[in-house]
Amino acid sequence: MKTRILSGIRPTGHIHLGNYLGAICSWVSMLDKIDERFFCIVDQHSLTTTEDSNDLRKNTLTIAAAYIASGIDPVENHIFVQSHVPYHTELSWYFSCITPMGWLSRMTQFKDKANKNKDQTLTGLFLYPTLMAADILIYKATHVPVGEDQKQHVELTRDIAHAFNSYVGKQVFALPEPIIKKETARIMSLRDGLKKMSKSDPSDYSRIHLLDDNDTIATKIRKAKTDPDPIPSEISGLESRPEAKNLLNLHAIFTNKTMENVLKDFEGKLFSEVKAKLTDATINHMEPIRSKMLDLLNDETSLIKYLKNGANAANNLASGHMAEVRQVLNLL
Ligand code: TYM
Repeated sequence: MKTRILSGIRPTGHIHLGNYLGAICSWVSMLDKIDERFFCIVDQHSLTTTEDSNDLRKNTLTIAAAYIASGIDPVENHIFVQSHVPYHTELSWYFSCITPMGWLSRMTQFKDKANKNKDQTLTGLFLYPTLMAADILIYKATHVPVGEDQKQHVELTRDIAHAFNSYVGKQVFALPEPIIKKETARIMSLRDGLKKMSKSDPSDYSRIHLLDDNDTIATKIRKAKTDPDPIPSEISGLESRPEAKNLLNLHAIFTNKTMENVLKDFEGKLFSEVKAKLTDATINHMEPIRSKMLDLLNDETSLIKYLKNGANAANNLASGHMAEVRQVLNLL
């Protein structure tokens, strides 16, 4: 069977280090192992949190630039915008007709984002996971590389695929595998080591944006929350020090070292030293990516051409699968 990746990022707010490490880096590491690769910018999902969708056009192009600048070649891979492929929303409707409301109400992201006043919670937010299931299944994707926070949605996608197959009495969809890399599964906020780094945190100091310049990166790392204790020699010494663990993990990722080796390097030292080294390592890694992103964003015409080509490939594959879906549903 052909292997196929589908994954995506919402063009909501600023793309940050959590998205880059948790999602994009994981995609890049799989490129040569998977037959076909589809990377989506899920703009319709952004509309479910209306307060965040003001800069949708600009953010969509920024995410496309981030994919390409990080090493996803737009000719070898299919980079496209969700709203350019109408089959996603069509399939999500069919899925909403076989998905019990109980499954959707149990989604933790829905519970976190839903309005306290239930009557005011938007239907789109409730149906978010059926659209995500459609994003994945319309391509019959086999692998879905994501950060830890999307695991529940990918598991629900498997349940929806199974429910659909049972409903039509035919194995239309295989169950996609979530791929979650341990070291980058959950990059934490720079202000609170118990919260994940997130686009919706009100503080810009909680996250590093992919377009932050070097001075901003340095300031954010300098202001990152830490504790006064020296660095321990063992990982177990970081158990109750989530901020320390997060910064050292970032250092390990950017220097390509194991956590054990990072602890050896810093054992007994204070955070001022770790922060200085982490700043250098982060800038070393991120500066070339930012610079490529800015070049790509300066040439909107080329960027939009890549997205059009990506959408053509996506529409081609999706239309065949949709014909099969309409047929098994007995639509005329
Ligand atoms: P989104 O846009 O919130 O995040 C995009 C990707 O980044 C990962 N991520 C993180 N990983 C590690 N640490 C963090 N702090 C962190 N924050 C975010 C997310 O896990 C995700 O992989 N519903 C999805 C978008 C989506 C999608 C899809 C993903 C829509 N359809 C189909 C995969 C397949 C979302 O809101 O991701």
